[in-house]
Amino acid sequence: MTSALHKRYLKEMEDYAEYYRVPIIQKDSIDYLKKFLKRHEIKSVLEIGTGIGYTTINMALDSGKMAITSIENDEKLYLEAIKNIKKFFFEDKITLIFNDPLNVRFDKTFDVIFIDAAKGQYMNYFNHFQQYLKDDGVIISDNIDFRLLKQKKNKSQDEKETKIINKIKDYVSFLEEQPKYISQFVEVGDGLVITKKQLDNDN
Ligand SMILES: C[S@@+](CC[C@H](N)C(=O)[O-])C[C@H]1O[C@@H](n2cnc3c(N)ncnc32)[C@H](O)[C@@H]1O
Repeated sequence: MTSALHKRYLKEMEDYAEYYRVPIIQKDSIDYLKKFLKRHEIKSVLEIGTGIGYTTINMALDSGKMAITSIENDEKLYLEAIKNIKKFFFEDKITLIFNDPLNVRFDKTFDVIFIDAAKGQYMNYFNHFQQYLKDDGVIISDNIDFRLLKQKKNKSQDEKETKIINKIKDYVSFLEEQPKYISQFVEVGDGLVITKKQLDNDN
């Protein structure tokens, strides 16, 4: 398949996301993520929160033998993601799981775990999925929105926004308190955090 066709299909996904108000990753974040995966020669990724498969497919493009597993609990989005993955002929590279992420178990580990699902569940995802991370693996969390964190509370800030900000703050504190991990905050897109397992000889 030509890269012009890839571009057209990706654009169609972006248009779908805009029309149906389905969240997809920011351009800067996916660019950063793809470079990260390439630089570290990542072979396996677990994504929590497939949506329509926009990140999933982007990560799979030009990724050699990298295998991606992705979990989505919304049936409509899961079916849309399947359709999109078929369009790209990525059925061999991408495995989709339709379930609530916290109900999913594996008998293998991954180089990268990318968390991009329900904000209020990030701590639970981290606790649940860290057992499936390779010893030298990283957990990448999206939507750690620095603009929101830096913003002083103002009158226009509604209850919903305050709740989201507090959830992100709690997650950031949680990450910083993890003795076995070191987190690096990257100001790209909606904010990414790269959390790496500390090997015993790092201490
Ligand atoms: C930000 S979107 C994912 C976007 C996708 N990674 C992309 O960039 O194309 C978050 C996804 O997490 C899914 N999700 C999984 N478990 C969820 C839960 N317990 N509550 C809310 N959303 C959940 C939503 O259905 C939604 O599709």
